[in-house]
Amino acid sequence: MSVRLKWRTARKGDRRLLQSFTCTVDRPRNWREPHPRPWELQVQSWVRELKPPVHGRRSVDLGFAGPELAAVVVVDHVEEEFFHIPAVARALDRRGAATGTGIVDHAIDLAAARASPDLDHIILSANIHRRNSASRQCFERAGFTRDIGMTDPSFEQWLLRVEFDVV
Ligand SMILES: CC(C)(COP(=O)(O)OP(=O)(O)OC[C@H]1O[C@@H](n2cnc3c(N)ncnc32)[C@H](O)[C@@H]1OP(=O)(O)O)[C@@H](O)C(=O)NCCC(=O)NCCS
Repeated sequence: MSVRLKWRTARKGDRRLLQSFTCTVDRPRNWREPHPRPWELQVQSWVRELKPPVHGRRSVDLGFAGPELAAVVVVDHVEEEFFHIPAVARALDRRGAATGTGIVDHAIDLAAARASPDLDHIILSANIHRRNSASRQCFERAGFTRDIGMTDPSFEQWLLRVEFDVV
């Protein structure tokens, strides 16, 4: 059985939902202990601060499993054929309902939908923390390949070129 999310654009009424969006485990009770996956915590904090509706070059889509917010996708239209994916995230308790690759596929569709009809291709980028193997696997499975050279050595840049059919 194929399980799909219902996607829609984030709106003002979703702010509270986003403020409590959880895509990683809680901080350890002992504040001296580091979070096991700080790169996920960073994405979670960033998503919680989103204030839809967003305008201009940014798109924020929410994926629902029934009434539950299961996933968040953010895509920026950088310029012309270039798009950047600053965040994809799946709600921690929605494993199974939302697959990481399906979420990345939605980010690609979102960029394609925003691309000018004149373009015969688009290029998408994403910066993935070196230790974020769950994310890396999802982007790789969606067709992204690793590029060289990021100023911040903790991150890798991943790229995908999408060709459009031209008649
Ligand atoms: C990135 C994310 C959307 C991927 O979604 P997901 O539901 O974990 O994806 P999947 O269940 O399809 O798992 C992808 C692969 O990573 C593996 N994986 C999942 N969590 C993992 C973890 N914590 N450490 C290592 N591997 C992990 C899975 O086993 C799977 O591998 P497999 O297909 O070989 O079994 C999700 O992990 C997430 O929301 N993370 C927090 C936010 C984040 O880091 N976003 C990415 C910013 S670039």
